[in-house]
Amino acid sequence: MGESFRLFNHHHFLTTFLIIIAMLKLVHTTTTTTTTTTTNTEFVKSSCTFTTYPRLCFSSLSTHASLIQTSPKLMAHAALNITLASAKVTSAMMVRLSNSRLKPKEVSAMRDCVEELGDTLEELRKSIGEMCQLSGSNYEVYISDIQTWVSAALTDVNTCTDGFEGEDMDGKVKVLVRGRILVIAHLTSNALALINHFASIHG
Ligand SMILES: *[C@@H]1O[C@H](CO)[C@@H](O)[C@H](O)[C@H]1NC(C)=O
Repeated sequence: MGESFRLFNHHHFLTTFLIIIAMLKLVHTTTTTTTTTTTNTEFVKSSCTFTTYPRLCFSSLSTHASLIQTSPKLMAHAALNITLASAKVTSAMMVRLSNSRLKPKEVSAMRDCVEELGDTLEELRKSIGEMCQLSGSNYEVYISDIQTWVSAALTDVNTCTDGFEGEDMDGKVKVLVRGRILVIAHLTSNALALINHFASIHG
């Protein structure tokens, strides 16, 4: 009787011990994951201080923190990705608007802007293409291409805004388009800053 009780106790002890080990492991894993997530998010936040619009930078890129981890290259790449995605949406919106009932001046400004945005999209696509293929041997040439294209993209976005400055623009259309374009311009400016930062630390 005493013997079997001790055996039971032994068994019980072992089970408890294993459960505790499993729990400790779980706590450890959870803590590690949380720490990594915090580190990644902190990296995005600190990288955003190199940009002109850090709040927009953080709000647009913090959701990609797990992909970016702590890589300045992936940070710049992700910034290009979200700029392209955002410019695509705005461009499509403007194509729809230009087909709606607007004043002739507005239609022509909208069409010019869509054309400008088309160039922006092309420059961003080319930049992302080279960003994907960036390596030690082509680094100098590719990073300089990317800097040139993203600067050009920024100029194109800004040119688009100019068409909407006129007096005879409808207030609502002007505000809507200008707001959207401004976001694209700021995202592009941030992406350029992050590319320049990546280039500066890469040497
Ligand atoms: C950028 O977009 C491409 C294509 O959608 C995707 O494969 C890649 O993971 C993205 N990279 C980053 C860093 O967001």
